[in-house]
Parts: sequence; C-alpha cells; structure tokens
Amino acid sequence: MYVVASDHGGFELKEAILALLKERDIEHKDMGPVNLDSVDYPDFGAKVAGAVSNGDADAGILVCGTGIGMSIVANKFPRVRAALAHDSFTAQMAKEHNNANILVLGGRIVSVAEGVELVKIWLDAEYE
Ligand code: RB5
Repeated sequence: MYVVASDHGGFELKEAILALLKERDIEHKDMGPVNLDSVDYPDFGAKVAGAVSNGDADAGILVCGTGIGMSIVANKFPRVRAALAHDSFTAQMAKEHNNANILVLGGRIVSVAEGVELVKIWLDAEYE
C-alpha cells in the first residue's frame, strides 16, 4: 500500500499522482491535504513517513514546493529512505541504487506532467 501527501506547494502534483495510482489500480491512501490552503509541510511529511516507518505502508510519495523540506522530515524516521528526484535519472537511481521507499518531488521544480512521469519511472524501476 502506498501513502501520498503534500503541502500547498505540491498539492496539484499530489492530486495527479493519486489519479495515476488509481489508474494503475495500485492500493493507496491520500494523507492530505484536501485543498490548496497553506499548511505546514512537516505535519504531512510525518504522516507518510510514520506509516512507512511503522510498516502500515510499503512505500510513499511526498511533494512540497522544493522537495527539500519533505526529504528532511521523512529521513528522520527509522527505516525510511526518502529520495528527492528532479529528473528521470534521479527518479530511476532512487529505486535502482538507493531502494528509496519514499519518493520526494518538488511541485515548484517540476511540472505536473513531469512529476507524474518521475513517479512512473520510480514505480517501474527495480532495486539492483
Ligand atoms: C512552502 O512555501 C515551502 O517552503 C515548502 O513547500 C517546501 O518547499 C519546503 O521545503
């Protein structure tokens, strides 16, 4: 099961990622937020990272404006390997070389279409 969350800076991309997971029939849970209102990214990063850390979820996806804040938060949790990807190479390496169990994206760095492509690459890649 995949868990997904964002802050306001990543909300639009988060919604598109949820649509992708639904389209692919991948079991998932939206951990918020529910709209574009300004929120504190650590609150939402902790929900996803906590679920991955305690085994409630297999993996997660987090989106904030840059991806930096969510990465910092998520990597404080035991058993979490959160990787920030900006392009197809880093998305692929995040799985192949780092076995990242949380993919982090910057909603103000990549377009919605690019972000969805990065999620596809990470989902489809195999840990080497
Ligand atoms: C929110 O304005 C912004 O700081 C946040 O989305 C993220 O980029 C933090 O790292």
